[in-house]
Amino acid sequence: MEKMEASTQLLSKRPELFLPEQWPSYYSHAKGVSVWDLDGREFIDMSYMGIGACVIGYADDDVDAAVKEAIDGGTMTTLNCPEEVELADLLCELHPWADMVRYTRAGGEALSVAVRIARARTGRDRVAFCGYHGWHDWYLAANLFEKDALGGHLLTGLEPSGVPSQLGGTARPFHFNQIEELEHLLGDHREEFAAIVVEPVRNFDPASGFLERIKEIAEEIGAVLIFDEVTSGFRLNTGGVHMVYGVSPHVAVFAKAMANGYPMAAIIGTGDVMQAAQSSFISSTFWTERIGPVAAMATIRKHKALDVSSHLIKIGQQVQDSWREAAAKTGLAVSVTGIPPLAHFSFDYPNGLAMRTLFTQIMLEAGFLATGAFYASYAHQEEHVIRYAAAVEKAFDEIAKAHEINEVENLLKGPVAHAGFYRLS
Ligand SMILES: Cc1ncc(COP(=O)(O)O)c(C=O)c1O
Repeated sequence: MEKMEASTQLLSKRPELFLPEQWPSYYSHAKGVSVWDLDGREFIDMSYMGIGACVIGYADDDVDAAVKEAIDGGTMTTLNCPEEVELADLLCELHPWADMVRYTRAGGEALSVAVRIARARTGRDRVAFCGYHGWHDWYLAANLFEKDALGGHLLTGLEPSGVPSQLGGTARPFHFNQIEELEHLLGDHREEFAAIVVEPVRNFDPASGFLERIKEIAEEIGAVLIFDEVTSGFRLNTGGVHMVYGVSPHVAVFAKAMANGYPMAAIIGTGDVMQAAQSSFISSTFWTERIGPVAAMATIRKHKALDVSSHLIKIGQQVQDSWREAAAKTGLAVSVTGIPPLAHFSFDYPNGLAMRTLFTQIMLEAGFLATGAFYASYAHQEEHVIRYAAAVEKAFDEIAKAHEINEVENLLKGPVAHAGFYRLS
């Protein structure tokens, strides 16, 4: 088939981020950890597994059976589906500090709802945040106040075009584990902040006392603490990773892994904060369809019954070890970061991005979708990791040899990949 020019609405799926001009870009079907491109080539996905959504695996039989049954029973009517009540009970059971639940279908919009609720609850405008939380006005407004405020959290050079200039100063960033920075930005405006929004964990573990202190600060200043668990949720446990760290927020937001790739997101929170949603207008037709809650319940129940998170941790550790071992054997300087289910590595060289591009090129030829990140799924088995580890070692060896003679760029069959997301959080 003739190569299609790829364009995408999701930054993280851009082929230029992986392997410009060579990445397969489009798929015909997927199952377990395999993805077939439009030419019928099969690849084992050792990269982002549906940008972190497919935590059980592609086209999982159990989740899909529940969805198919829902389709046969009608997924949208004038009446509501009872599954959204069942799912709310399940989420509150997993997070006993939460009393109320709202739904959307995507992570960014769920964060927008959470911020709206916090603003409604407090009657304040400002939001202190750390990390990436979506594309909406409240978030991009950060770049109105400071030209490249999002440079250390998402991407450098993002123009907040289309975002009302009046929002300037309402969204203020700080860095993960940097309490002093947060204190400094709150400064003399403590009583103007509606919310503090953070991911409980991302590329680095929270420093001892960091989450606890953020909660104390939020309560001291009367702001709502929002944990963004869109990516961190359902990795180290069944539910929000904050349950592992023992710090509950006032609001937590889930999406991605909660429904194994079906669109679903939830905002859960304490009764007194969530009640404020009633005083605002937050409403959308497709937030009431049935597939999302059905897929979420099937995913969460399977996740819990099979202790999926233990598997994700084990597989993630094996993959992180495979990078470390291949680096040690080949003498390459490589940094391995991230919690095991959301693992990352980078080549610590000035041309590290070219090296990563070459890695993706070599791995693609060996039948793997691979880059500097590995998001584990329940469908990844040890046999995949063994095959992957052998291919990683060969790839690192080739890269090390090319590096020695300054040939990395010459071995690339296309341009160097773009850097993409830059997350310090
Ligand atoms: C932490 C975090 N928040 C929010 C989002 C946005 O979610 P969505 O892409 O579903 O809108 C993402 C997506 O990558 C994320 O990782």
